Amino acid sequence: MEDDKIQFMCWRAILTMLVLAMICSSGNGTICPAPCQCQNDILRTLCASASLEFVPIQLNPELHELDLSNNRIVHIHFSFPFYEKLVTLNLSNNRIKSIGNSNFNSQKNLTHLDLSNNQIENLTKDSLKGLKALVHLDLSNNSLEEINSGAFRELHSLTVIKLCGNKLVHLEESLFRAVKNLRELYLNDNQFLEVPTAALSDTVQLQYLALSRNLILSVEDGDMANLPELNTLLLDSNVISELHPDGLSSLVTLDHLDLSDNNLTAVPTIPLDKLSSLTTLRLSGNFISHIPHVAFRGLFHLRILKIDCLETLEQIDSRAFIDNINLEEVHMDYNVRIEKLPTRLFHGNPKVKFISVRYNNLQTLEAIHFPVDQLHELRVGGNPLNCNCSLGWLWHLIQKYKSNPLKLNETVHVENKKTKINTSDLILDIGDITCVGPEGLSSQLLADATRSQLDCSVGWMAAISVTLTLIFSLLVIGGVVYCAPKHRSRTNKKELSEIEETLRRNMPSSHSRKNEPYEPSQIEKYVISSPSMIDKEYRSLPPWDPYGASSVNMYEQLNENGVRPHIVYV
Ligand SMILES: *[C@@H]1O[C@H](CO)[C@@H](O)[C@H](O)[C@H]1NC(C)=O
Ligand SMILES: *[C@@H]1O[C@H](CO)[C@@H](O)[C@H](O)[C@H]1NC(C)=O
Ligand SMILES: *[C@@H]1O[C@H](CO)[C@@H](O)[C@H](O)[C@H]1NC(C)=O
Ligand SMILES: *[C@@H]1O[C@H](CO)[C@@H](O)[C@H](O)[C@H]1NC(C)=O
Ligand SMILES: *[C@@H]1O[C@H](CO)[C@@H](O)[C@H](O)[C@H]1NC(C)=O
Ligand SMILES: *[C@@H]1O[C@H](CO)[C@@H](O)[C@H](O)[C@H]1NC(C)=O
Ligand SMILES: *[C@@H]1O[C@H](CO)[C@@H](O)[C@H](O)[C@H]1NC(C)=O
Ligand SMILES: *[C@@H]1O[C@H](CO)[C@@H](O)[C@H](O)[C@H]1NC(C)=O
Repeated sequence: MEDDKIQFMCWRAILTMLVLAMICSSGNGTICPAPCQCQNDILRTLCASASLEFVPIQLNPELHELDLSNNRIVHIHFSFPFYEKLVTLNLSNNRIKSIGNSNFNSQKNLTHLDLSNNQIENLTKDSLKGLKALVHLDLSNNSLEEINSGAFRELHSLTVIKLCGNKLVHLEESLFRAVKNLRELYLNDNQFLEVPTAALSDTVQLQYLALSRNLILSVEDGDMANLPELNTLLLDSNVISELHPDGLSSLVTLDHLDLSDNNLTAVPTIPLDKLSSLTTLRLSGNFISHIPHVAFRGLFHLRILKIDCLETLEQIDSRAFIDNINLEEVHMDYNVRIEKLPTRLFHGNPKVKFISVRYNNLQTLEAIHFPVDQLHELRVGGNPLNCNCSLGWLWHLIQKYKSNPLKLNETVHVENKKTKINTSDLILDIGDITCVGPEGLSSQLLADATRSQLDCSVGWMAAISVTLTLIFSLLVIGGVVYCAPKHRSRTNKKELSEIEETLRRNMPSSHSRKNEPYEPSQIEKYVISSPSMIDKEYRSLPPWDPYGASSVNMYEQLNENGVRPHIVYV
């Protein structure tokens, strides 16, 4: 009944408009309503935010693009038969409750249809009938609870469909049967309790699947069985507490996996270990208490790992990341129970460039925690640091950074050519690195501490060690220079002078305090250690590298790239 009434009203409106059109028609027989912008040369009409309550029907029938977004349109019945040549139609942000049946039947060339931010409650078998060229369909932010299993049966060209922000609980098994080219499917912000496996069995070309912010409890065996090209899978903000060992195992092309903000209580090592193409993994905001030995097994291509906000995390095994030889970025912020980092945590990761451990509960940090030579960015702010001698190395890095902060793309002249380089090697979040102790430094920035406040007394034994070390390095390097072929000797000389310079910079205090009692401390080790000593130190450690590189020191490897001098800055 109601539909008939609407139909009648619509036809009356159409007739009125046609009459009006005949009366007022300009040269080409069309009218451009005042709030619209009609760009007839490019067949585009923009009526966004024009307070329209109806679709204007007297526009140029040759139109390719029509923007009706941000209006007050409620009905679209019988509105579009006039615009058969539309390619893009935007009805976003209106008040449409139903798109009815066959209202787009003549839009054979429509490729983009935006129906987002309306109040559409259901799609029937014929709601989208005729849209054979449709590529992008946006139905996000509506009130869809139900989609007829045949709703997409004519949408053979569809590659992107956004159904996010609806009230979907379930998708019919054959919903995507005709949509063979579907590449991106947005199902986030709905009410799914489980992965809609049956519907996903037809989407074999899918590359992007968003299921974020639903109510999914687990990923079962076979849930993702028919997604051989999937690249990105977003499962964040569900309540997943269980991943079946084979739940994800068929996703061999998966590049990006987000499992943040779920209810996982352990690192899902086995469910992930077949994802050999994975480069980005997010596990932040779960209830993981322990990151064990080889937690990310088999993820050889992993580059970015996010394990922030694990409020129950207490322990990280020093070999947790050893399989991840391509790891570049590790985010470990807000793991508020972490009091200590294992010493060699990153030593299986020769490519790591970015480490963030902000707002943990770390009281001290040691230079050997981080491959400082290699890093581009180290973020350690917000920890309750005890700024004693042990942090001398960090203080030195900070002073260096302060005197030469990062200026991206600074243009310098190199051999008459303009080259863009970064002027600082390592970015530090120095504004957030504050001290909790000792007294006198509490709630001060470490950057503002003076050398003497860090109490880095270097005693006479240290002076002797420096001398011995220097002699030792000279001998070693001299030997190398003597034995090595000519072309290598130049490098070594350069290295030597750099080492000497570093040592000279760190020497003066030791002379002035010759008579103070010697207290061996961490800082001395790094202030006075020459690379060769550090080499020895590492070499004496038990083997840890599963790839047989156990005796090769990190710094030595890095130096081969010639990126930075062979020195641990302190
Ligand atoms: C659709 O596009 C094709 C190719 O651009 C064109 O030949 C055809 O006339 C168009 N159809 C309509 C109804 O505009
Ligand atoms: C439709 O219009 C909205 C609001 O103006 C805009 O955000 C959206 O990108 C448009 N959609 C398309 C497909 O152009
Ligand atoms: C679809 O929604 C319209 C408008 O809310 C309603 O009249 C109609 O009964 C619904 N159809 C189905 C199959 O639920
Ligand atoms: C859907 O609505 C939410 C909240 O109102 C908004 O943040 C989001 O941008 C909307 N999405 C689209 C595609 O318009
Ligand atoms: C998931 O974790 C939250 C936060 O601890 C908890 O409130 C909720 O009950 C858990 N849900 C399930 C299904 O385990
Ligand atoms: C510095 O403080 C840390 C943490 O309180 C402590 O573990 C370390 O032994 C201290 N170092 C020295 C040299 O006192
Ligand atoms: C630096 O230069 C690169 C390429 O020239 C450019 O892509 C980048 O945006 C620049 N970054 C900044 C911070 O200017
Ligand atoms: C400069 O530093 C930025 C940020 O760390 C890095 O992404 C970029 O590759 C660096 N550029 C050069 C030329 O070193």
